[in-house]
Amino acid sequence: MEIIKTKNLSKRYNGNLAVDSLNLSIEKNRIVGLVGPNGSGKTTAMRMICGLLRQTNGEVEINGLNLSRNLSKIQEMLGYLPQQNALFPDLTVYENLYYFGAVFGVCDRKLLNRKINDLLEKLGLKDQKKQRIEKLSGGFQRRTAVACSLLHNPEIIILDEPTIGLDPAIRVEFWNLFKGLKSQGKTILISTHYMEEADECDEVIILNRGKLAGFGGPDELRKKVFGNVYDLSQTKSKNSFENVYLNLTK
Ligand SMILES: Nc1ncnc2c1ncn2[C@@H]1O[C@H](COP(=O)(O)OP(=O)(O)O)[C@@H](O)[C@H]1O
Ligand SMILES: [Mg+2]
Repeated sequence: MEIIKTKNLSKRYNGNLAVDSLNLSIEKNRIVGLVGPNGSGKTTAMRMICGLLRQTNGEVEINGLNLSRNLSKIQEMLGYLPQQNALFPDLTVYENLYYFGAVFGVCDRKLLNRKINDLLEKLGLKDQKKQRIEKLSGGFQRRTAVACSLLHNPEIIILDEPTIGLDPAIRVEFWNLFKGLKSQGKTILISTHYMEEADECDEVIILNRGKLAGFGGPDELRKKVFGNVYDLSQTKSKNSFENVYLNLTK
């Protein structure tokens, strides 16, 4: 079943098209990567899909519902991690989670406390629970922001460059977390400019200057680009997703 659908979705800033007639169809319970370099329109597309930014043209449908006409109902289903963390630096990890949980409508204190502790455990944040955000490394701050986006148990999780600037070990942990969320039935849309992360996704959306340049499974896109010469046994670098990207956007 399609859970996210966009029709000719476009955003124009001062005469420039940041997102240009994007037609997307995302199935439920997949990890879908939104891949493209800086400035290709990833954040703009994600913010329109979350209903945080009004499109210039086109439409978004979530679970068959028109986004503009069902905004509050749809936003309850969505978890969103902004590209830049929106945390309170002088509050602790726990206090940030408590605040955002309350904002997202988790009103029962005991339930919220349980959810926070569960996420602290899952995200390896237990020891940082009482530390102020400003005292933490970028990796722990990012983990806290990811936890904030998951508090209300959203069905669809939209993560804008969750792994940006993180060291490889934390990136691997993050991807394990995302796969765990998928196994719980969630749908995850995740942007990245790290081409190698495309291989962690079920499907990849390739954006080039706001336009859709490719959509499909990572190996499907490799086959499309490399054709019959495509051979999984070849060196990774030859079949790298970077080469797929360069080929589809040249
Ligand atoms: N608020 C804004 N005002 C004007 N231009 C913007 C604004 N936000 C983004 N842009 C432009 O839109 C394009 C796409 O940006 P963005 O969606 O942030 O891309 P990405 O997330 O892939 O880096 C870029 O050219 C950027 O400069
Ligand atoms: Mg961005």
